[in-house]
Amino acid sequence: EKGGWPSFMAKEVSEGPEAVANTLRGRLTDHGVDLGELGVLDDEALRGIDRIVIVACGTAAYSGLVGKYAIETWSRVPVEVDLAHEFRYRDPVLDERTLVISISQSGETMDTKMAVEHAAAAGARTLSICNTQGATIPRQSEAVLYTHAGPEVAVASTKAFLAQVIGQLLFGLHLAKVRGTMTDEAIAEVVEELRELPDELRQVLAEQESVHELAHWMSDTRSVLFLGRHVGYPVAMEGALKLKEISYIHAEGFAGGELKHGPIALIEPGQVVFVVVPSPRNQALLHSKIISNIQEIRARGARVIAVAEAGDAAVLPYADVVLRVPLTLPMLEPVLQVVPLHIFALELATAKGLDVDQPRNLAKSVTVE
Ligand code: M6R
Repeated sequence: EKGGWPSFMAKEVSEGPEAVANTLRGRLTDHGVDLGELGVLDDEALRGIDRIVIVACGTAAYSGLVGKYAIETWSRVPVEVDLAHEFRYRDPVLDERTLVISISQSGETMDTKMAVEHAAAAGARTLSICNTQGATIPRQSEAVLYTHAGPEVAVASTKAFLAQVIGQLLFGLHLAKVRGTMTDEAIAEVVEELRELPDELRQVLAEQESVHELAHWMSDTRSVLFLGRHVGYPVAMEGALKLKEISYIHAEGFAGGELKHGPIALIEPGQVVFVVVPSPRNQALLHSKIISNIQEIRARGARVIAVAEAGDAAVLPYADVVLRVPLTLPMLEPVLQVVPLHIFALELATAKGLDVDQPRNLAKSVTVE
């Protein structure tokens, strides 16, 4: 039940820290990661793959895009992300050296299930990252990493996204260790930062009063754009999807570098743009690129709401509003940055008097094609 919260979505957003802690539980050792549960996808099998394809839909696919950056960077195995329905119907190149990772909260999404069946029939190895114990997709996969985020009832997926990212980060570290592409020190550094995430998430949740005000001020808005680079790009698309789903406002997420290839034509005075800003401390180049993007859209009259790291003073002169998140490693930033966007969608839909748990036309689990 809702346990005193006005909606399941509000409750599930508040459960983010526990969801992340539960995904990490039992899988972190003193300085590394232990994924003994992978069974037949043992070290030898993981040394035998030369390519990874992540298949998923919706929010799970956006988590997969975050996973791509981390797994590829850490393990040096090329990773692509495909929407499960596009993958299934395009005759993808697959063999026993391809690992297909499916990501699904419910484990029952028909498109994703069919993609996994197709991959298995073509001889690819299969791993499921799933939140629902004993669901169809993990049962038809060779190995499974359960996210243990707890039941998610609201149609809009929130805490499950955080847990899906964590599951992939754990797998990426494991793969890097197995393939010898990361030093023990580098792995230990990420593990340290992963341990901090639940508390950092609590901090983010405790500081959302400004998002509440923002949502009320924006309840008549007809269109919102989201911009990000690197792992901030999938965060931007996830922020846009959530807003579409529950507040029925037109929203799009873009990669910062794409702006002048088209989307900047949409910018007119008053247009609100959320910008996901990487930390200047460990992503200086990307930070300067995103600041240039902000300058470009501000010069055309856009109002900028930045999601930025707590110590980032450089962003202040460029943004109308800054939503702060604690400092973490680049690959972990999405877990913190997405939370203000989830809360913004929730608050805006609430301000419009909409049913946030049961948005029109949508089902929690899409078990038809
Ligand atoms: O259960 P799944 O993770 O497979 O669901 C995938 C999508 O249908 C789901 O993430 C959908 O996009 C959500 N409603 C997003 O909030």
